[in-house]
Amino acid sequence: MRGIILAGGNGTRLKPLSIVGSKQLAPVYDKPMIYYPLSLLMLAGISEILIITRPTELEVFRRLLGDGARLGMSIGYAAQDEPRGIADAFRVGADHIRGEDNALILGDNLFHGANLPSLLRRSADRLNGCVLFGHQVADPQRFGVAEVDERGRLVAIEEKPARPRSNLAIPGLYMFDGGVVDVAKRLTPSARGELEITDVLRAYLDEGRADLMWLGRGVTWLDTGTHESLLEAGMFVRDVQHRQGVRIGCVEEIAMHMGFIGVDDCYRLGEEMASSPYGKYVMNCARSFHCLPASARFLDES
Ligand code: G1P
Repeated sequence: MRGIILAGGNGTRLKPLSIVGSKQLAPVYDKPMIYYPLSLLMLAGISEILIITRPTELEVFRRLLGDGARLGMSIGYAAQDEPRGIADAFRVGADHIRGEDNALILGDNLFHGANLPSLLRRSADRLNGCVLFGHQVADPQRFGVAEVDERGRLVAIEEKPARPRSNLAIPGLYMFDGGVVDVAKRLTPSARGELEITDVLRAYLDEGRADLMWLGRGVTWLDTGTHESLLEAGMFVRDVQHRQGVRIGCVEEIAMHMGFIGVDDCYRLGEEMASSPYGKYVMNCARSFHCLPASARFLDES
């Protein structure tokens, strides 16, 4: 499966923070925001990733993550000259998708939870068309919303409905077969002028090929699109890390656990940042890797 991170947009809700820099590079406690969606794709076993961003930001992202080789991955970049909506990612990323199964994650969505890696793998295994996820929230009108029947089957999808028919929001993480590029090419912009991801999902639903996976109570989903939610996400990460002594979204650690890089590679990456607590943590992850029981090697976090 191939991955896409959509890190475009003008970040209007985060101005002035987002005037000279992409919001997906804003700090969420100890790392740039994009580390979190990147680590989620890695936990799904995806090592070939395209990052789509504004033309002016391409070089900054490249400086941060390079071609991915240091993490045992392949990371490419593509520019979206104007924010035309989430579904535009499939048009911009058509060459990267190459007709294969793919996962799209929005660069400002952060997920954390014990069962995420296995949930992602199960979703990828049963992909037949598309998989979307559902998460209960208090304010569904801010999101894409999934309506289910009494047996929990997906029956309708709406984008930011004024009167939501359920409280099941659809987070910014989706899996599709290679046909998504053609679906996206056929779309026309919505009333707000965007190529809507919900229209793509609806096209699959109409064909009976959209599968809804519930993110249970054990999963925390945070979006970081406002000043308030950005700060909350940072505090969440700090609290979990402080309590548990493990880091969320540490891409070097995850790359080692996923077998993308070796233990020595991981140690060296940590050493390059040895004067920061993050670097020390990475070095320590490598040092203790062989002492971990097999069950603990399977990363439980994203
Ligand atoms: C977008 C999608 C929406 C989804 C949300 C998740 O909304 O259009 O369906 O629920 O991301 O973060 P936006 O953040 O662009 O308003």
